Amino acid sequence: MSSLQVTRGTRDIIAPEIYYWQQLEATARQILSQAAYTEIRTPIFESTELFARGIGEATDIVGKEMYTFTDRGDRSLTLRPEGTAGAARSFVENKLFAQGGVQRLWYMGAMFRYERPQAGRQRQFHQLGVEVLGSADPRADAEAIAIASDFLQAVGLKDLVVDLNSVGSAEDRVSYRQALVDYFTPFIAELDTDSRDRLTRNPLRILDSKDKRTQEISQEAPSILDYLSPESQQHFEKVQALLTDLNIAYRINPRLVRGLDYYTRTAFEIQSNLLGAQSAVCGGGRYDRLIAELGGADTPAVGWAIGLERLVILMQQVAIQKRSQVDFYIVSRGEKAEAKSLSIAQIFRKAGFSAELDLSGAKFDKQFKRASNAKAAVVIGDSEIESGQIQIKWLGTGEQEAIAIADLSDSFEALRQKL
Ligand code: HAM
Repeated sequence: MSSLQVTRGTRDIIAPEIYYWQQLEATARQILSQAAYTEIRTPIFESTELFARGIGEATDIVGKEMYTFTDRGDRSLTLRPEGTAGAARSFVENKLFAQGGVQRLWYMGAMFRYERPQAGRQRQFHQLGVEVLGSADPRADAEAIAIASDFLQAVGLKDLVVDLNSVGSAEDRVSYRQALVDYFTPFIAELDTDSRDRLTRNPLRILDSKDKRTQEISQEAPSILDYLSPESQQHFEKVQALLTDLNIAYRINPRLVRGLDYYTRTAFEIQSNLLGAQSAVCGGGRYDRLIAELGGADTPAVGWAIGLERLVILMQQVAIQKRSQVDFYIVSRGEKAEAKSLSIAQIFRKAGFSAELDLSGAKFDKQFKRASNAKAAVVIGDSEIESGQIQIKWLGTGEQEAIAIADLSDSFEALRQKL
């Protein structure tokens, strides 16, 4: 029988890569709790309508990339392609606004988009995201960007650039859209097929085309920054001043348009030139109308999501994760020693150490070789059992000591010092 394989665009995350994931997850929890964010877990599938309305019918995500299916009760459901729509729905449905003030939420989990897989682009991928709901203050935008930047630095990344833009309010965009249509229409025959289609549906997205000729034409296209209302302009300037004050390097990129339709005013991406074509490790922005569009009260909001596959690619390049080590690796020689080894492993674990028991039944030398990933080997032989002792061999220094099993608990403090 032929062996089964994972589906295209999905992958297993196994050791040693998993250690990077565990490290980034622990760091995320720490940084986000320091900044008073609360975790939220929303369902992996939701009604198709939520994403269609939330993300926008004219986006690639909704038009081409969703995993949509009909369940046995004839409902149209979709595997979440991102986390913002679900968080916004939950905010409305659970009346989180009733708690007053600003809600700072975070989430981490699998997302699904039917895209062409390549390095850093999967069909099942993972995001860490934050959503700050209930503040129109530019400090909320700058704080969100600062938290992303703190997190990326805390997992060891350097040389990241924040690309910053304002896509204006929905009202600002009405005249900008028209200006784009007027500009691109004479070039229609030269645009790539997708861009031609976007001209009427979503002209802003033409600026994001990867086609060479379309990019050349876009060079001279009108800039959104010339279409901002005084209020949007002021908001944008305040965000910039705050980032400067925080020493966060950014560059203004008036061509930055995001792939989701809910953005208003601030839009940003954090890029790394170590990632090749899929250079955005983080993307986000302000979305002041989404919650009202999903049936809630007018609630300004801002957030971002980091693509964790891309983050792990970058972490591996700077190789900051050491292999996770156990404290003690327990090897045994002889029947009596084997019989006692599990209870000794449990004594170490209950004392708060990590301990791995060799279960291979292999020759002693082979077992001992495997201990090299631990900080120390605990050696139990039949003769040791008879004299009521174990040997501890510290693998860093080669130091060896005998400890009476009866006195183990008295030795824990001294052992802890040596780890
Ligand atoms: P997004 O730009 O679509 O934004 O995705 C955010 C990040 O997820 C991207 O920068 C990228 O690192 C990662 N990503 C997206 N698609 C894939 C894929 N197919 N494979 C691997 N990584 C991927 C959003 O999803 C918004 N919900 C962000 C947001 C939150 N805006 C406001 N709040």
